[in-house]
Amino acid sequence: MSKIKIAIAGVGNCASSLVQGLEYYRTNNAADSAGLMHSDIAGHGPADIEVVAAFDIDRRKVGKPLEQAIFAHPNCTTVFQQALPVSDVIVSMAPVLDGIADHMDDYDDDRAFRIADAEPVNVAEVLKETGAEVLVCYMPVGSEEAVQHYAEACLDARVAMVNCVPVFIASDPDWAERFREAGVPIVGDDIKSQVGATIVHRTLGRLFNDRGVSLDRTYQLNTGGNTDFLNMLEKSRLKSKKKSKTQSVQSQLDEAMEGDDIHIGPSDYVPWQNDNKVAFIRMEGRGFGDVPMHLELRLSVEDSPNSAGVVIDALRCAKLGLDRGIGGPLEAPSSYYMKSPPVQVRDHAARISTDAFIAGKSPTLAFAQPNSRPVKIEDGDRVETALILAAGYGSRLFPNASLPKPLAPVAGATMAEWVVQTLKDSVGTKRFVVTLGHEADMVRAHFESVARRNDVTVEFVQSDNWEAGNGASTLAAAELLANERFVLTMCDHLYDASLPMRLVQDDLQSGGMRLAVDMAKQAIFDVDDATKVTIDGENIREINKELADWDAADTGVMYCTDGLFDALRQASADGEHGLSDGLRRLARDGKAQVSDVTGSWWLDVDTPEALRMAEEFLAGSARSVG
Ligand SMILES: NC(=O)c1ccc[n+]([C@@H]2O[C@H](COP(=O)([O-])OP(=O)(O)OC[C@H]3O[C@@H](n4cnc5c(N)ncnc54)[C@H](O)[C@@H]3O)[C@@H](O)[C@H]2O)c1
Repeated sequence: MSKIKIAIAGVGNCASSLVQGLEYYRTNNAADSAGLMHSDIAGHGPADIEVVAAFDIDRRKVGKPLEQAIFAHPNCTTVFQQALPVSDVIVSMAPVLDGIADHMDDYDDDRAFRIADAEPVNVAEVLKETGAEVLVCYMPVGSEEAVQHYAEACLDARVAMVNCVPVFIASDPDWAERFREAGVPIVGDDIKSQVGATIVHRTLGRLFNDRGVSLDRTYQLNTGGNTDFLNMLEKSRLKSKKKSKTQSVQSQLDEAMEGDDIHIGPSDYVPWQNDNKVAFIRMEGRGFGDVPMHLELRLSVEDSPNSAGVVIDALRCAKLGLDRGIGGPLEAPSSYYMKSPPVQVRDHAARISTDAFIAGKSPTLAFAQPNSRPVKIEDGDRVETALILAAGYGSRLFPNASLPKPLAPVAGATMAEWVVQTLKDSVGTKRFVVTLGHEADMVRAHFESVARRNDVTVEFVQSDNWEAGNGASTLAAAELLANERFVLTMCDHLYDASLPMRLVQDDLQSGGMRLAVDMAKQAIFDVDDATKVTIDGENIREINKELADWDAADTGVMYCTDGLFDALRQASADGEHGLSDGLRRLARDGKAQVSDVTGSWWLDVDTPEALRMAEEFLAGSARSVG
């Protein structure tokens, strides 16, 4: 495998652990050694990472060989790999900018930064000269200008960036766009340590929510004795760190906590702790019967090695991005490795998506999990209301159980939750009308909780003869949807966000409807079971499962006016109760058109096999949103 040439900005404790780790895993078989999240990333082991440039501003480091500089004061982290090969990397003097806090002068030489008397280099030039491919940014907290300076240099030299600092670059839309435009990948922001206070607090927050315990108050107090903690004594430098750590935990909760009820941050500098960081976490909640419960946890870790293994992964993912020509934030690795990624997802979903990216799929999280940042929706593309058909049996999916289909679990959420989230995130739907039938009470309760979690409203209807067909269920919603334009979706059809976005961009004629169709006939899963459509221009001519000669497949998602209900009433009067029966009548009147959504992912989840396919796609996310 070819080498991954990296540059290090900031030769502090984290850099020390990283450089030691590269040698440690070169001399000890990575696959057999503890401490790595991935011993192999698409053929790259840790030993493939080679440092070709390093930047600092401290007089004990600048001008020194890297393998000596990492052990110089004020670095104080554990030495777990003393013997290092001699390299020809000499630490370059960087522009100081806002890298150093004033209060450093008040502390002993051994504990604080001391600026070297040397001319700063041009960072972008050094990156180009050394052939660096990825830069890892280890600036002190609060170094907004310095981090931005390195980001500019990366764009200039077309070098990928791994931003370990809570200065928002990958998660800032303007910076993200600049990296995208330049075709330069970035993984950021603010490295999430292997088992550090953030991941433990996030996981416990989810545990409380998943077990139905209401979390009323929590804190995370951290102490340490390295320069990271010394630097953070200056409150004005702390803002972004506090924000990054707090949002990282908040993002995992069903409902964000009020400002005064959550306190997370570095709390004190205790010199004798050196690089040992101690986190104290307290969580106060209420369980069954509103009975209070408290959790107290003390986590003691060596701070810098705790993050270095994560960086070894992030560097290799950044290199994959470069090799695959992907510019901009790598969403999946950022969500897994960073505290403040562009999109927050549950950690287990982040891991699955990262593994899928490593395996060659998209780096984009096509499906955002609860609490992730939604796609930006233009006003004209918003559809306020959706009708979800959720009355059916699901007997082919669960032949031996009575679990209703909307509650079928797939990739960490239920089908109901995927459909609601996808419509909310893609076309901004806020009001959901759900048809009930089989196991109505269970389905109703579940949708109510999905709606609460997603901050949308839900109303229910049930037709007396829902078993006669999905047209009968749809008709039951006529009153609630009078004079509305709405998306109609089956609860057992899953799709990516691009599908409804494309559907609602097409014009909808008065009294008519549009059906999202897929023209890639050869790629349709379970084509025998698909509902087929013949079309004439944009107009639907015929819709039927049995058509021998057909043009496109029905994806189960429609954009409708209340004209649909008139057509369903006519069909019902003729003794026909399927949704297709209503569509056929609209088609006869020239009021049913198609929208071509070929290329968007969708799946009719009718069988265990389809469920496995959906699981694989949603976990791995093979296509991007919109
Ligand atoms: N587990 C972890 O250690 C962890 C986790 C998350 C985030 N981080 C973040 O990673 C960053 C690095 O942490 P650290 O413990 O290595 O810090 P550190 O204080 O040990 O190292 C910072 C280094 O940056 C150098 N520096 C300052 N200004 C510079 C400039 N303009 N150009 C080049 N170098 C400059 C300093 O001389 C020092 O060597 C911090 O922002 C920290 O909050 C660390």
